[in-house]
Amino acid sequence: DNHVWIAPKATDLRSPCPGLNTLANHGYLPRGGKNISIPMILEAAIDGFNIGSDAIIQAAKFGLLSGDAPTTMDLDALKLHNLIEHDASLSRGDFALGDNLHFNETVFSTLLNSNPGVDYYNATSAGHVQHDRLAISLATNPNITNTPKEFLLRTRESSFYLTLMGNPITGVAPKKFVEIFFREERLPIAEGWKRPNTTITAESLNTIEGIIIDNSNWTLTQICEDLVLGP
Ligand code: HEM
Ligand code: MG
Repeated sequence: DNHVWIAPKATDLRSPCPGLNTLANHGYLPRGGKNISIPMILEAAIDGFNIGSDAIIQAAKFGLLSGDAPTTMDLDALKLHNLIEHDASLSRGDFALGDNLHFNETVFSTLLNSNPGVDYYNATSAGHVQHDRLAISLATNPNITNTPKEFLLRTRESSFYLTLMGNPITGVAPKKFVEIFFREERLPIAEGWKRPNTTITAESLNTIEGIIIDNSNWTLTQICEDLVLGP
């Protein structure tokens, strides 16, 4: 099976994105994490996740700005702060606090401990997590960036872990699957996960993203930020 999960080698490049890393760990993207084109990403997202191009094309195009190559990117370059990478992530620390690339169990504990008493996360709990992660960053990071751009990205990312690991329509996701996705960057196939049976599109995420937004009680703390267009 070409798509068996293999942990990255020390020389394999990985990103701050658990989605792209999972695709690489399963061989839907090159396992080395280098020289990745937009068509490769779009095909991998459909094959591995049943996530449609329209839901990721903007991020993929921004990704090209992370390096100097005209048509490809390397996964580690995507940590470039304030291009796509932002503060108040779910599973990585803020740039100004040290490491914005690698999984961080302390950061992840906010999501991990959310929606207590049940075995699933949903759009309501995801909104609360976004609120709580931002509150922690505002309290600890004097250099935080928090504009509408970051909020848009964070909300799309929350909708991805809910619909990819859970029901693609309702966004109800088993906690166990979400934990494996973030911690191991692995598809929890052995645990019973199945590839979403309907394609996840920007349109299909609308309702879930609306609920996340309603429950995140978000306010901007800046209007503008430095424009990042390259390394
Ligand atoms: C972050 C999922 C596609 C670049 C994230 C996060 C999730 C996610 C859940 C949040 C991680 C966190 O907050 O700790 C996915 C899925 C994708 C996908 C399921 C489907 C293929 C992409 C694409 C790009 C990208 C196409 C660009 C080429 C990033 C970056 C981050 C990120 C740079 C870090 C943002 C941050 O938390 O600071 N992604 N993503 N992702 N994603 Fe993706
Ligand atoms: Mg981040």
